[in-house]
Amino acid sequence: MSAVRTSKMAATEKQILCVGLVCLDIINVVEKFPVEDTDTRCLSQRWQRGGNASNTCTVLSILGAPCGFMGSLAPGRVSDFITDDFQSRGVNISNIVWQCVGITPCACCIVNHSNGSRTVILSDTNLPDVNSEDFRKIDLSLYKWIHWEVFVSKDVARHFGFNSASEAVKGLYSRVKPGAYLICAWAEKGADAMGPDGAFHSNAFPPEKLVDTLGAGDTFNAAVLFSLCNGKSIQESLMFGCQVAGRKCGIQGYDGIV
Ligand code: FRU
Repeated sequence: MSAVRTSKMAATEKQILCVGLVCLDIINVVEKFPVEDTDTRCLSQRWQRGGNASNTCTVLSILGAPCGFMGSLAPGRVSDFITDDFQSRGVNISNIVWQCVGITPCACCIVNHSNGSRTVILSDTNLPDVNSEDFRKIDLSLYKWIHWEVFVSKDVARHFGFNSASEAVKGLYSRVKPGAYLICAWAEKGADAMGPDGAFHSNAFPPEKLVDTLGAGDTFNAAVLFSLCNGKSIQESLMFGCQVAGRKCGIQGYDGIV
Protein backbone atom coordinates (compact mmCIF):
# COMPACT_ATOMS: atom_id res chain seq x y z
CA MET A 1 0.00 0.00 0.00
CA SER A 2 1.41 3.45 -0.89
CA ALA A 3 2.38 5.97 1.81
CA VAL A 4 -0.13 8.50 0.39
CA ARG A 5 -2.99 6.05 0.63
CA THR A 6 -1.96 5.02 4.16
CA SER A 7 -1.87 8.61 5.43
CA LYS A 8 -5.20 9.42 3.71
CA MET A 9 -6.76 6.45 5.47
CA ALA A 10 -5.33 7.55 8.82
CA ALA A 11 -6.74 11.05 8.31
CA THR A 12 -10.24 9.75 7.61
CA GLU A 13 -10.29 6.84 10.05
CA LYS A 14 -13.10 7.22 12.56
CA GLN A 15 -12.13 7.97 16.13
CA ILE A 16 -13.10 6.74 19.58
CA LEU A 17 -14.43 9.64 21.65
CA CYS A 18 -13.95 9.43 25.44
CA VAL A 19 -16.17 11.67 27.55
CA GLY A 20 -15.32 12.40 31.17
CA LEU A 21 -12.74 13.79 33.54
CA VAL A 22 -9.39 15.37 32.78
CA CYS A 23 -7.30 16.70 35.65
CA LEU A 24 -3.72 17.34 36.63
CA ASP A 25 -2.18 14.51 38.66
CA ILE A 26 0.73 15.58 40.86
CA ILE A 27 2.26 12.23 41.61
CA ASN A 28 4.61 11.53 44.51
CA VAL A 29 6.29 8.15 44.28
CA VAL A 30 7.25 7.03 47.80
CA GLU A 31 9.25 4.11 49.15
CA LYS A 32 6.61 3.46 51.78
CA PHE A 33 3.35 5.12 52.66
CA PRO A 34 3.97 8.15 54.93
CA VAL A 35 2.84 8.32 58.54
CA GLU A 36 0.42 11.16 59.23
CA ASP A 37 2.02 14.42 60.42
CA THR A 38 5.55 13.52 59.33
CA ASP A 39 7.90 15.19 56.84
CA THR A 40 9.42 12.72 54.38
CA ARG A 41 11.15 12.69 50.97
CA CYS A 42 9.67 11.04 47.92
CA LEU A 43 11.59 8.90 45.42
CA SER A 44 10.33 11.04 42.54
CA GLN A 45 7.63 13.52 41.71
CA ARG A 46 5.95 14.24 38.39
CA TRP A 47 3.05 16.07 36.78
CA GLN A 48 0.90 13.80 34.66
CA ARG A 49 -2.31 14.42 32.75
CA GLY A 50 -4.95 12.38 34.58
CA GLY A 51 -8.67 11.75 34.84
CA ASN A 52 -10.58 8.71 33.62
CA ALA A 53 -11.44 9.70 30.03
CA SER A 54 -8.11 11.45 29.62
CA ASN A 55 -6.12 8.38 30.73
CA THR A 56 -8.20 6.16 28.48
CA CYS A 57 -7.27 8.45 25.54
CA THR A 58 -3.59 8.19 26.49
CA VAL A 59 -3.70 4.41 26.34
CA LEU A 60 -5.79 4.33 23.15
CA SER A 61 -3.24 6.57 21.44
CA ILE A 62 -0.36 4.36 22.62
CA LEU A 63 -2.23 1.33 21.26
CA GLY A 64 -2.55 3.16 17.94
CA ALA A 65 -6.26 4.03 17.92
CA PRO A 66 -7.30 7.49 16.67
CA CYS A 67 -9.19 9.06 19.57
CA GLY A 68 -10.59 12.27 20.96
CA PHE A 69 -11.39 13.65 24.40
CA MET A 70 -14.50 15.51 25.48
CA GLY A 71 -14.72 17.17 28.88
CA SER A 72 -14.46 20.48 30.70
CA LEU A 73 -11.39 22.65 31.27
CA ALA A 74 -10.82 26.17 32.57
CA PRO A 75 -8.22 28.30 30.77
CA GLY A 76 -4.91 28.75 32.61
CA ARG A 77 -1.46 27.26 33.12
CA VAL A 78 -2.73 23.88 34.27
CA SER A 79 -4.93 23.49 31.22
CA ASP A 80 -2.00 24.60 28.99
CA PHE A 81 -0.01 21.69 30.41
CA ILE A 82 -2.96 19.36 29.84
CA THR A 83 -3.68 20.42 26.23
CA ASP A 84 0.04 20.30 25.31
CA ASP A 85 0.20 16.79 26.66
CA PHE A 86 -2.95 15.69 24.80
CA GLN A 87 -1.45 17.07 21.61
CA SER A 88 1.89 15.37 22.15
CA ARG A 89 -0.07 12.08 22.19
CA GLY A 90 -2.05 12.97 19.08
CA VAL A 91 -5.38 13.03 20.95
CA ASN A 92 -8.06 15.16 19.24
CA ILE A 93 -9.12 17.93 21.64
CA SER A 94 -11.59 19.79 19.42
CA ASN A 95 -14.41 18.76 21.80
CA ILE A 96 -12.92 20.25 24.96
CA VAL A 97 -15.53 22.51 26.52
CA TRP A 98 -13.88 25.68 27.85
CA GLN A 99 -15.68 26.92 30.94
CA CYS A 100 -15.56 30.53 32.07
CA VAL A 101 -16.16 29.71 35.73
CA GLY A 102 -14.37 27.21 37.95
CA ILE A 103 -10.85 25.79 38.08
CA THR A 104 -9.30 22.79 36.39
CA PRO A 105 -9.36 19.81 38.80
CA CYS A 106 -6.10 18.71 40.37
CA ALA A 107 -5.27 15.47 42.20
CA CYS A 108 -2.44 14.94 44.67
CA CYS A 109 -1.49 11.29 44.29
CA ILE A 110 0.76 9.05 46.34
CA VAL A 111 2.06 6.00 44.53
CA ASN A 112 3.70 3.51 46.88
CA HIS A 113 6.60 1.98 44.97
CA SER A 114 6.81 -1.02 47.31
CA ASN A 115 3.31 -2.36 46.50
CA GLY A 116 1.97 -0.16 43.67
CA SER A 117 -0.93 1.24 45.70
CA ARG A 118 -2.29 4.60 44.67
CA THR A 119 -3.90 7.09 47.02
CA VAL A 120 -5.65 10.02 45.38
CA ILE A 121 -6.98 13.26 46.80
CA LEU A 122 -8.90 15.06 44.08
CA SER A 123 -9.94 18.67 44.19
CA ASP A 124 -12.86 18.78 41.79
CA THR A 125 -14.96 21.58 43.09
CA ASN A 126 -16.58 24.09 40.84
CA LEU A 127 -15.90 23.35 37.17
CA PRO A 128 -19.24 22.81 35.34
CA ASP A 129 -19.68 19.52 33.47
CA VAL A 130 -20.33 19.26 29.75
CA ASN A 131 -24.06 19.49 29.00
CA SER A 132 -26.57 18.49 26.34
CA GLU A 133 -25.91 21.71 24.37
CA ASP A 134 -22.23 20.73 24.13
CA PHE A 135 -23.20 17.27 22.88
CA ARG A 136 -25.39 18.76 20.16
CA LYS A 137 -22.30 20.40 18.66
CA ILE A 138 -20.43 17.12 18.15
CA ASP A 139 -20.03 15.89 14.58
CA LEU A 140 -21.03 12.28 15.23
CA SER A 141 -19.92 11.17 11.77
CA LEU A 142 -16.29 11.46 12.95
CA TYR A 143 -16.67 8.77 15.62
CA LYS A 144 -17.10 5.03 15.56
CA TRP A 145 -17.50 4.69 19.33
CA ILE A 146 -18.38 7.04 22.16
CA HIS A 147 -17.15 5.90 25.56
CA TRP A 148 -19.11 7.33 28.43
CA GLU A 149 -19.06 5.33 31.70
CA VAL A 150 -20.47 2.01 30.59
CA PHE A 151 -18.05 -0.05 32.35
CA VAL A 152 -18.59 -0.37 36.11
CA SER A 153 -15.53 0.24 38.30
CA LYS A 154 -14.70 -1.82 41.37
CA ASP A 155 -15.32 1.27 43.52
CA VAL A 156 -18.82 1.81 42.08
CA ALA A 157 -19.63 -1.91 42.31
CA ARG A 158 -18.61 -1.93 45.98
CA HIS A 159 -20.68 1.16 46.59
CA PHE A 160 -23.70 -0.79 45.31
CA GLY A 161 -22.86 -3.61 47.74
CA PHE A 162 -21.25 -6.11 45.35
CA ASN A 163 -18.21 -8.10 46.46
CA SER A 164 -16.95 -9.36 43.11
CA ALA A 165 -16.98 -8.43 39.44
CA SER A 166 -19.22 -11.34 38.54
CA GLU A 167 -21.75 -10.40 41.27
CA ALA A 168 -21.67 -6.80 40.01
CA VAL A 169 -22.27 -7.50 36.31
CA LYS A 170 -25.02 -10.00 37.11
CA GLY A 171 -26.65 -7.73 39.70
CA LEU A 172 -26.59 -4.60 37.56
CA TYR A 173 -27.36 -6.19 34.20
CA SER A 174 -31.09 -5.47 34.34
CA ARG A 175 -30.24 -1.73 34.34
CA VAL A 176 -28.50 -1.70 30.94
CA LYS A 177 -30.23 -1.58 27.60
CA PRO A 178 -31.08 -4.95 26.00
CA GLY A 179 -28.19 -6.40 24.01
CA ALA A 180 -25.50 -4.39 25.86
CA TYR A 181 -22.42 -5.82 27.55
CA LEU A 182 -21.68 -4.75 31.10
CA ILE A 183 -18.03 -5.02 32.13
CA CYS A 184 -16.34 -4.81 35.52
CA ALA A 185 -12.64 -5.19 36.37
CA TRP A 186 -11.58 -6.22 39.86
CA ALA A 187 -7.80 -5.67 40.16
CA GLU A 188 -5.93 -8.93 40.87
CA LYS A 189 -9.16 -10.94 40.50
CA GLY A 190 -9.37 -10.10 36.76
CA ALA A 191 -12.54 -8.93 35.02
CA ASP A 192 -16.06 -10.12 34.22
CA ALA A 193 -18.64 -9.24 31.63
CA MET A 194 -22.31 -10.01 31.16
CA GLY A 195 -24.05 -9.84 27.80
CA PRO A 196 -26.96 -11.27 25.83
CA ASP A 197 -24.87 -14.42 25.26
CA GLY A 198 -24.01 -15.02 28.90
CA ALA A 199 -21.25 -14.36 31.42
CA PHE A 200 -17.50 -14.08 30.71
CA HIS A 201 -14.37 -13.93 32.86
CA SER A 202 -10.66 -13.30 32.41
CA ASN A 203 -8.03 -13.82 35.05
CA ALA A 204 -5.64 -10.98 35.82
CA PHE A 205 -2.11 -10.88 34.37
CA PRO A 206 -0.15 -9.36 37.26
CA PRO A 207 3.35 -8.03 36.57
CA GLU A 208 6.34 -9.47 38.44
CA LYS A 209 6.24 -6.47 40.74
CA LEU A 210 3.39 -4.00 41.21
CA VAL A 211 4.81 -0.47 41.08
CA ASP A 212 2.04 1.93 39.97
CA THR A 213 -1.67 1.12 39.82
CA LEU A 214 -2.79 4.72 39.17
CA GLY A 215 -5.02 4.62 36.08
CA ALA A 216 -5.00 0.82 35.79
CA GLY A 217 -8.80 0.74 35.44
CA ASP A 218 -8.71 3.44 32.75
CA THR A 219 -6.03 1.39 30.97
CA PHE A 220 -8.22 -1.72 31.13
CA ASN A 221 -11.15 0.22 29.64
CA ALA A 222 -8.98 1.54 26.79
CA ALA A 223 -7.62 -1.88 25.91
CA VAL A 224 -11.10 -3.47 25.96
CA LEU A 225 -12.49 -0.67 23.74
CA PHE A 226 -9.55 -1.00 21.37
CA SER A 227 -10.07 -4.72 21.06
CA LEU A 228 -13.87 -4.54 20.62
CA CYS A 229 -13.46 -1.79 18.00
CA ASN A 230 -11.14 -4.13 16.11
CA GLY A 231 -13.84 -6.76 15.93
CA LYS A 232 -12.56 -9.06 18.69
CA SER A 233 -14.98 -11.03 20.87
CA ILE A 234 -15.92 -9.97 24.38
CA GLN A 235 -13.84 -12.86 25.81
CA GLU A 236 -10.75 -11.86 23.80
CA SER A 237 -11.28 -8.21 24.71
CA LEU A 238 -11.57 -8.91 28.45
CA MET A 239 -8.33 -10.85 28.29
CA PHE A 240 -6.54 -8.15 26.31
CA GLY A 241 -7.80 -5.55 28.82
CA CYS A 242 -6.39 -7.56 31.72
CA GLN A 243 -3.06 -8.09 29.93
CA VAL A 244 -2.50 -4.41 29.13
CA ALA A 245 -3.70 -3.28 32.59
CA GLY A 246 -1.33 -5.82 34.16
CA ARG A 247 1.61 -4.42 32.18
CA LYS A 248 0.65 -0.90 33.21
CA CYS A 249 0.81 -1.87 36.91
CA GLY A 250 4.42 -2.97 36.44
CA ILE A 251 5.64 0.45 35.19
CA GLN A 252 5.37 4.10 36.23
CA GLY A 253 2.95 5.99 33.99
CA TYR A 254 1.86 4.63 30.62
CA ASP A 255 4.87 4.54 28.29
CA GLY A 256 5.91 0.93 27.94
CA ILE A 257 2.49 -0.77 28.12
CA VAL A 258 3.03 -2.18 24.62
C1 FRU B 1 -7.15 7.30 37.79
C2 FRU B 1 -7.62 8.73 37.85
C3 FRU B 1 -6.48 9.69 38.12
C4 FRU B 1 -7.20 10.82 38.79
C5 FRU B 1 -8.27 10.12 39.58
C6 FRU B 1 -9.53 10.90 39.68
O1 FRU B 1 -8.22 6.44 37.51
O2 FRU B 1 -8.30 9.08 36.67
O3 FRU B 1 -5.76 10.04 36.96
O4 FRU B 1 -6.39 11.54 39.65
O5 FRU B 1 -8.51 8.90 38.94
O6 FRU B 1 -10.52 10.24 40.41
